[in-house]
Amino acid sequence: MFFKDINISYFKSIDNLKWTCSDGLNLVLGNNGNGKTNLLDALYYMCLTKSFLASSDSVLIHQDADFFRLEGNVEVLENKLTIAASFSSHTKKKITIDGEEYDKLSQHIGRFPVVLFAPDDTDLVRGSSELRRKFFDLLICQFDLQYLESLSTYNHILKQRNHYLKLLSIKEKLDITLLAIYDKKLIELNHYISKKRAETILEFKPIFITHYNFISSEKEKANIEYETDVNSDFESIFLNNQEKDIFSQRTNLGIHADDFEWTLDEKSTKKYASQGQKKSFVLALKLAQFTFLNLKKGIKPILLMDDIFDKLDDFRIKKLLSMLTENVFGQVFITDARAERTKNLLKNIPFNCFTMEDK
Ligand SMILES: Nc1ncnc2c1ncn2[C@@H]1O[C@H](COP(=O)(O)OP(=O)(O)O)[C@@H](O)[C@H]1O
Ligand SMILES: [Mg+2]
Repeated sequence: MFFKDINISYFKSIDNLKWTCSDGLNLVLGNNGNGKTNLLDALYYMCLTKSFLASSDSVLIHQDADFFRLEGNVEVLENKLTIAASFSSHTKKKITIDGEEYDKLSQHIGRFPVVLFAPDDTDLVRGSSELRRKFFDLLICQFDLQYLESLSTYNHILKQRNHYLKLLSIKEKLDITLLAIYDKKLIELNHYISKKRAETILEFKPIFITHYNFISSEKEKANIEYETDVNSDFESIFLNNQEKDIFSQRTNLGIHADDFEWTLDEKSTKKYASQGQKKSFVLALKLAQFTFLNLKKGIKPILLMDDIFDKLDDFRIKKLLSMLTENVFGQVFITDARAERTKNLLKNIPFNCFTMEDK
């Protein structure tokens, strides 16, 4: 898929911006603070109905306006469509395709697949398990709507159950049959979600390993394993844990506590890998996300690469450039504050360039 042109109004620091994009490589240049990342965020928003940085829509509105609007003409599998996304302080978020609104916003997710490379990606290795779950959830949600809906129901019920556990610990006389209703639904969803995660990891792993071997200069063996509480005895384990849940006022077991063990030569990447190895690891994860979504959907996702040349060393940049030269990707957006460096690196690849000017 690719954006043919975009029209941004009052999104973060961008008041008005119109740009005709190339269906190949696009460069977004300009000094730091000029809105390059904001432009990528606008593209991300049009694909996934949310920002990759902000958790609330209201902070995305330009400080001098009371709404934002994003519009993009896209081509996906030879269909020409117009995506429009808008939000104002008085109305709720609205996403339309050719002027038509969805019944549910979730129906938009995955129609316009996207993969983001961001400067803080190494947090995927160094940070908490929540980031790793989010990485795989976003991957699965972009090709499986049922997974997306199940996950959102799960999170909703989990919140209700946790709230109820808090009440139970205060007022002992509360009816615990309501807990049984939450439990039944959660157990069912735990089985479904963990099965999907396990299946996805199985398919994803060889793709990831191939990418890791390509971009890493060393010979270590990279691996990913899925770790979960959910197994065939999960129902009884979960129910036996009820007293502990009431005592700790939260649900201890379930897919919300899953993690993914990332290793190099069977040693934890988080604990033992060098900086360079960690970078290779996350770069391979992102490239694998691209390949995997491409395979699943038959559409090349757009790639948003934010300040990628700042974060990668020459060896990995060379590997990435070779993929760009060989047309592995579809539409790509790369931001960089250092125009000369980028133009030099990309001198053998045709690109379209947009400069975000100083205000
Ligand atoms: N809602 C907003 N209204 C106006 N400016 C904003 C808003 N949100 C963020 N910004 C501004 O955007 C700028 C950062 O833009 P960014 O895209 O990160 O720049 P770059 O990536 O080019 O370094 C900051 O100066 C920040 O204050
Ligand atoms: Mg930036």
